[in-house]
Amino acid sequence: MSVIYDADHGLFTLKTRDTDYQMKVDELGYLLHLYYGSRTDQPMDYLLTFLDRGFSGNPAEKHLDKTYSLDTLPQEYPFKGTGDYRGIAFKMENADGAVSCDLRYKGHEIRDGKYCLKRLPSARGERPDPAGKPDGNVTTLSVTLTDALSGVEVELLYGVYEAENVITRAAVIRNRGTGRVVIRRALSCCLDCLSGSYELVHFHGRHTLEMQKERTPVGHAALSIGSRRGTSSHQHNPAVILADREASEESGAVTGCLLSFSGSFLCEAEKDQFEQTRLLMGMNDEQLAYPLMPGEELEAPECVLSFTKQGFRELSLTYHDFLRAYVIRDPYAGKPRPVLINSWEAAYFDFDGDTIVHLADEAADLGLDMVVMDDGWFGARNDDLRALGDWKPNEKKLGCSLSVLIRRVEEKGVKFGIWIEPEMVNEDSDLYRAHPDWVLKVPGKPPVYARNQLVLDFSRKEVRDSIFQSIAEVLDQGNVSYVKWDMNRSVADVYSLEHVPGKVRYEYVAGVYEFLKKLNERYPNLLIEGCSGGGGRFDAGMLHYEPQIWGSDNSDAVDRCLIQYGLSYFYPASTVGAHVSAVPNHQTGRITPLQTRGITAMAGTFGYELDPAKLSEDEKADIREQIRHYRRFEPLVREGAFYRLSDPYRDGISAWGFVSPDRHTVLLNYVCLENHGNMDVKYVRAAGLDPAAWYVSETDGRRFSGAALMEAGLPVPPQLKDYAAGQILLRADT
Ligand code: GLA
Repeated sequence: MSVIYDADHGLFTLKTRDTDYQMKVDELGYLLHLYYGSRTDQPMDYLLTFLDRGFSGNPAEKHLDKTYSLDTLPQEYPFKGTGDYRGIAFKMENADGAVSCDLRYKGHEIRDGKYCLKRLPSARGERPDPAGKPDGNVTTLSVTLTDALSGVEVELLYGVYEAENVITRAAVIRNRGTGRVVIRRALSCCLDCLSGSYELVHFHGRHTLEMQKERTPVGHAALSIGSRRGTSSHQHNPAVILADREASEESGAVTGCLLSFSGSFLCEAEKDQFEQTRLLMGMNDEQLAYPLMPGEELEAPECVLSFTKQGFRELSLTYHDFLRAYVIRDPYAGKPRPVLINSWEAAYFDFDGDTIVHLADEAADLGLDMVVMDDGWFGARNDDLRALGDWKPNEKKLGCSLSVLIRRVEEKGVKFGIWIEPEMVNEDSDLYRAHPDWVLKVPGKPPVYARNQLVLDFSRKEVRDSIFQSIAEVLDQGNVSYVKWDMNRSVADVYSLEHVPGKVRYEYVAGVYEFLKKLNERYPNLLIEGCSGGGGRFDAGMLHYEPQIWGSDNSDAVDRCLIQYGLSYFYPASTVGAHVSAVPNHQTGRITPLQTRGITAMAGTFGYELDPAKLSEDEKADIREQIRHYRRFEPLVREGAFYRLSDPYRDGISAWGFVSPDRHTVLLNYVCLENHGNMDVKYVRAAGLDPAAWYVSETDGRRFSGAALMEAGLPVPPQLKDYAAGQILLRADT
């Protein structure tokens, strides 16, 4: 059993293969956090110390015992109201306006299988592809805390994935009392560490340069990252690692926290007055004031925790495996994704039906699977100023109906995909003219525009249902195999005609999830690629509905090395939309070799974003070869273990490797980021191989031991060109 309850000591131990997570209900009924780390197989409550600390208050029962204070004790779900002056996980306002509660243990339940949230995504309890892989042994622990005064209950949920070394957490707040309360903060996770010095690894960025890794010491000045944009955002990703100061790729204690939520989020880390570290993560509470009437409930999103002492590499492998096995939905979990060509960087808004058919022709000739018609196919959409919301094909522009266009594309032997942006509207659209009250807008104040568009009020069912209807009419026009779901602005005006303002941010995200779930159910084989101006909503929440997400609007191979390096800490390559685009690159002006662009895109879902008509015959021949080459090892990229083999910020080279589950096939990849006179030789050291096995290079037949490849690596001699790249395919000599 992976959850053990020791009733005599009130101890809960959550056991995974290599880790223990422990908490305790103490004599007052408070749930104290004891430990998360390598297995110790012992009660860890001996770690608690009780000391008289000035200005740290004592609960009523202990008012004569100055050594007991919730200001100093480690807690599982700290709340506002009992004198914990650190950052807390939960805050609520009572009917009388008092912001206070007192959550004590009420009961618990341990059950087989995985809990499931109703309105927000939560990881499954079974792998979709039992073929060859052990079935997940998942246990749920539910601990209920209650506030006697208000009758509010907080159910803390834990999913223990024993074999995977993963513990998920979520919380459900229920008003079981008789009065109205307002939830002002309901985070998903608190991790208290009694000792140690840490750094927070987090990923910041901006539009066209997402996921830049940063490592910040956690000190006494509270560290706070997050998003206030209504989406998880380009600026920060809801995925962080609390790392030992010395932790490296290959060693050191690291704890990952990945939030499955696509709205505004918050992560806080601080060292308290006694050098204890607290990490908090969950949805952002800045505009949260969520009223709960008696009988109502609120779910706090799921977060996915993992701990290892073997550094960042092992942690990333765990997350990649977990997301592929328990989050990415069938049928895409174990299935090749289409190699597609997208019309955006090929034509932007300047296309007609023939352009798309020509693209299909070229695609078939190059050996691609699919053509995606990006923005510009509907209403009066010939620029980004109008028509969002009018999801009716522009038959004049296309020269035919959408059904006919899809058939014309299919006749070329390729599949058809289409771009949509359901959450948005332009004022210059039939939809807005008919329903000006369907947008998020603060009464009496001019709205905040971005890309000249406004945000539809997806917190309202009426709005969602109408948009769903018009999108379904589009998808029913023919065999639409793929949809790129875009979301091209942040949410600024938080006001809905249906909900009080403090509910809007939450209800909006829940509404988006409900829409996506309905879309998944109605079109189970439709592949949805998420996008928000690239990686503005790249998070585990979205991955439940969209197996892949466009990594960035920046398709430059060199910048992509940095972006994809950041993404690789949590997200597997099969989730990262990546394409080969034209040079000079449209975002950076940089010129990189076609091979370099191909190798970089092959660390993702792989596809193209250019106009083949502008290519020379030699380039086309190279692309045909590139696609053939990719298909040979596509399963390796999708299912293999991914290893970062350099630090692209430091090493002047970006290198990574894929290793098949049986360790027989290895693909090493590199892109030279620097070039100088009399350049030094770089060495790419492999990882994850069998040290005792011999591997043969497909390129030149040379043999290397696994140990040599991992200990010394392969030399990458300098080349007299910028951004040279290469791939080395090695197979075990069996
Ligand atoms: C966003 C996307 C792009 C493209 C445009 C279309 O910026 O990220 O890939 O689809 O919208 O307007």
